[in-house]
Amino acid sequence: MSIDVELARSITPGTRHVNHLNNAGASLATRPVLDAMAAYFQREATIGGYEAEAEMQAEHDAVYDSVATMIGAHRDEIALVESATAGWNAAFTSIRFRPGDRILTGRSEYVSNALNLLLAAERDGVEIGVIPDDEHGQISIDALRDAIDERTRLIALTHVPTSGGLVNPAAAVGRVAREAGVLYLLDACQSVGQRVIDVDELGCDMLCATGRKFLRAPRGTGFLYVRQTVLDSLQPLLLDSRSANWTGPTTYEMEAGARRFEEFESSRATRIGLGVAVDAALALGLDAIAARTTALGADLRAMLRAVPGVEVHDKGDDRCAIVTFSVAGTAARDVQRALAERSINTSVTGPHFSQFDFPQRGLGLLVRASPHYYNTDDELAQLVDVVSGLGRKPTA
Ligand SMILES: Cc1ncc(COP(=O)(O)O)c(C=O)c1O
Repeated sequence: MSIDVELARSITPGTRHVNHLNNAGASLATRPVLDAMAAYFQREATIGGYEAEAEMQAEHDAVYDSVATMIGAHRDEIALVESATAGWNAAFTSIRFRPGDRILTGRSEYVSNALNLLLAAERDGVEIGVIPDDEHGQISIDALRDAIDERTRLIALTHVPTSGGLVNPAAAVGRVAREAGVLYLLDACQSVGQRVIDVDELGCDMLCATGRKFLRAPRGTGFLYVRQTVLDSLQPLLLDSRSANWTGPTTYEMEAGARRFEEFESSRATRIGLGVAVDAALALGLDAIAARTTALGADLRAMLRAVPGVEVHDKGDDRCAIVTFSVAGTAARDVQRALAERSINTSVTGPHFSQFDFPQRGLGLLVRASPHYYNTDDELAQLVDVVSGLGRKPTA
């Protein structure tokens, strides 16, 4: 099944205004997502927030099923949270580290995760090991296997980094984690929605993702998956009336499933929007989305490589729809600005997001373009045209 791009664009109002190649930042929402949220807000305003929640309980509950279906999990293994970071933090802080424990990670670990690894090293005395890349620029499975010892408590990996098109071999990492009996936390923030994600195939124990990127859900949405078999070995750092029941003056019972990682207060409307976005991705077909996004990323890389002075910086054997590049003689922010003047949305990434990686590769700021399935070849060509013009001298 292939994607009907015209149809996808017709239900995406933003495509009439911008050439949006910043889907790794936040994707353009669809009309059905907007309508579902608007209807929910309307009910809240009309009958009251708690009353609207009671009325729409079934729709809200169905979001867990949608997310679980998308990643091959059970609904009780899903916690709905506000961001990938909130999910990652909830999972990470539920592990009781002891001084001397080791955490292994990759060179592409996301900034916020890496900051918390550094904090844990300082506060709890854990040791952080950054596994080198293999010859393709992705995490080396051999080096990971060699690095694991009896002190290793956690493997924390970012599937698709914020700063490039790499897709780390997360399933191979999962096999190593299982062989060694080490917990495995996968940050799938940038792969969910553009790649097929199956938690059993990946072998991860915990996985976090955001709604706003390739899932095309609203900002302020995300989820955390926690495998049933590890749930009881994890203890949330903090509880509230959603994650636990206060059963007596000195007693409480934690929620049985992953909802022990949730908080009571959240935007129900945006969660409904998340559910609509996930259902839309499932209806289009995750395979079809993956095929189209991967192809658009490869096409854009090839088109940019053909422009004199342009260097493409994505690494890895498997590359997705995130394309990072530099233009000789033009700073990344100036490239982004020139594109924005033509209503072409991109973003800029750099060492501040990727200190385990960019300094080693001698990289500064790069332009990041990230098409989604609703983008067209013509839109890619528009970007390449502007970039080509940057190197050209004005004619007299
Ligand atoms: C790889 C990765 N992980 C996590 C995040 C954080 O996501 P959120 O802002 O939803 O917490 C990002 C955001 O750019 C990311 O690229």
